[in-house]
Amino acid sequence: MSCPGGSSRTEQRGNLPTGYNGREGHVKRIGVLTSGGDAPGMNAAIRAVVRMGLHKGWDVVGICEGYVGLITDDTTPLSARRVGGIMQRGGTVLGSSRSPEFKTPEGRRMAREMLNRHSIEALAIIGGGGSQAGALAMFQEGFPVVGIASTIDNDLYGIDITIGVDTALNVALEAIDRLKVTASSHRRAFLLEVMGRDYGYLALMSGLAGGADAIVVPEVDTDPEQIASAMRDAYTRGKSHALVVVAEGARYNAEGLGRYFREHQERLGFELRSTVLGHVQRGGEPGAFDRLLGTQCGVAAVECLDKGEFGVLAGLRHGQISTVPLAEVVGHKKPIDAKLLKMAQVLSQ
Ligand code: F6P
Repeated sequence: MSCPGGSSRTEQRGNLPTGYNGREGHVKRIGVLTSGGDAPGMNAAIRAVVRMGLHKGWDVVGICEGYVGLITDDTTPLSARRVGGIMQRGGTVLGSSRSPEFKTPEGRRMAREMLNRHSIEALAIIGGGGSQAGALAMFQEGFPVVGIASTIDNDLYGIDITIGVDTALNVALEAIDRLKVTASSHRRAFLLEVMGRDYGYLALMSGLAGGADAIVVPEVDTDPEQIASAMRDAYTRGKSHALVVVAEGARYNAEGLGRYFREHQERLGFELRSTVLGHVQRGGEPGAFDRLLGTQCGVAAVECLDKGEFGVLAGLRHGQISTVPLAEVVGHKKPIDAKLLKMAQVLSQ
């Protein structure tokens, strides 16, 4: 898939590679790409990078389909008008992908050649953990990059909230509210599985905000018998339903718990059903929070490129838009907030 609106594989300049040479004010042409799982608010970040870059008098080139576009030479010219009307759209107008080839030195060598051919001197890389690992590799190999923290998983170490999380959480919450309605009509228990890869943030926060009876996250070894008790307790207390939010990365996710309870459902009190929310969480139109976060992070990334502050990740950190070195982010696991998990348990009575 190429960038919507058409890419321009033929738009090569054929001039000598320039590459960033460290002189202040040297950057004249930057590239922007979105990589990994798409996240609502990425388009706001693209728009901000483009318009802020143009404001500085630079050219901004869109790289289609993430790192794949760097290898296959798939670009699209970006103007202020090209990024008009995209902020309210979910997904990414540049397209995205996961690129195993870019993880290899040979893949990155091809990417560097492509960037030289197009005289692209620096890159803004919008994405989550895998994408920022790629950004760090490029930076360590000498190419100027700035990352923009964006993933619905919110698993980037050192960043409070990434672009896309708020919208994804609201999608999960809507699902919880709706499931409770049907669950109450039938006196049923529901398992709702949310995304997050191996991080339990989406499960924890949607479970807390949605008033779940139990929350299962990958970070905590969960005894399925505890989940059984939570459902049974809800039943004996006269509740009309029980709702358990499980993270996809947990050992006892919807499939694991479903299998565990298959033979012995009667002891739960309720009849059990399960729903896997999956990619529905990624596809929403971004809410105000994600549009504003994407916008501010996009601007911050361009300011970094302008200042020559490379190899950093722009994002919300300690309540402010700021940066953290990519080397401090990549490879570090973000801990789950144990206090919030405990709070959710206490409030589920
Ligand atoms: O990283 C975002 C995410 O949606 C994860 O929560 C999920 O595990 C993964 O991407 C799914 O990846 P894909 O879209 O490639 O199936």
